[in-house]
Amino acid sequence: MTPVFWLVGLSGSGKTTLGSLLRIYLQSQDYDAEFIDADRFRIQHGFHGFSREQRIQNIDAMRDLVLSLNDQGKICVVSAITPYACMRDLNREYIPFYREVWVRCGLETLTSRDTKGFYAKASKGLIKNFTGFTDDFDEPKNADLILDTDVSDLSDSYLLLRNFAEHAIHEGNLLHSCLSDVIHFGRTEVLNVSFG
Ligand code: ADX
Repeated sequence: MTPVFWLVGLSGSGKTTLGSLLRIYLQSQDYDAEFIDADRFRIQHGFHGFSREQRIQNIDAMRDLVLSLNDQGKICVVSAITPYACMRDLNREYIPFYREVWVRCGLETLTSRDTKGFYAKASKGLIKNFTGFTDDFDEPKNADLILDTDVSDLSDSYLLLRNFAEHAIHEGNLLHSCLSDVIHFGRTEVLNVSFG
């Protein structure tokens, strides 16, 4: 079974940086891995809105893409705010080997970093429905890994993510071989019953 690593968290928390580093690492290890980043995905698909419905539509479309890539055996690394619990519930329900990573960072740090200038604009009311300010971010209740990017530096968070990913890939391989054994022995038993 091939994992999907879905990085969730507020804008500017470090999802894109960590996700792209993970993709580079996985490819360097000869894994077939894809990185799907929300900013780029939105531009490619013309999804520019941030209402609740538009965000749900965006995440639904990302999930569809991930499912088709994952079905071809690709490890997927996804970076998207994914702010509502209902979105993540659907991810867990539909993606066979889903691993949720919460890239957590406090608003105070995000506002002081403000790499894209969005937090300054949002605090002046210049951006509507800004996640964490005027739009909800439901705190993940079932994250498989939490990376606190306001207390650990990038290299520590990256190493934690890399180890977590390696462990999940190994687990997926074990599950895959167990399932193959069950299918193989199951068939043998059926053959024995039919012809024995
Ligand atoms: S999601 O809610 O649909 O998951 P998504 O991850 O695709 O959001 O896009 C978020 C990116 O769009 C942020 O990283 C930020 O750069 C930008 N952005 C622009 N407007 C908003 C907004 N109102 N709320 C959050 N992010 C916004």
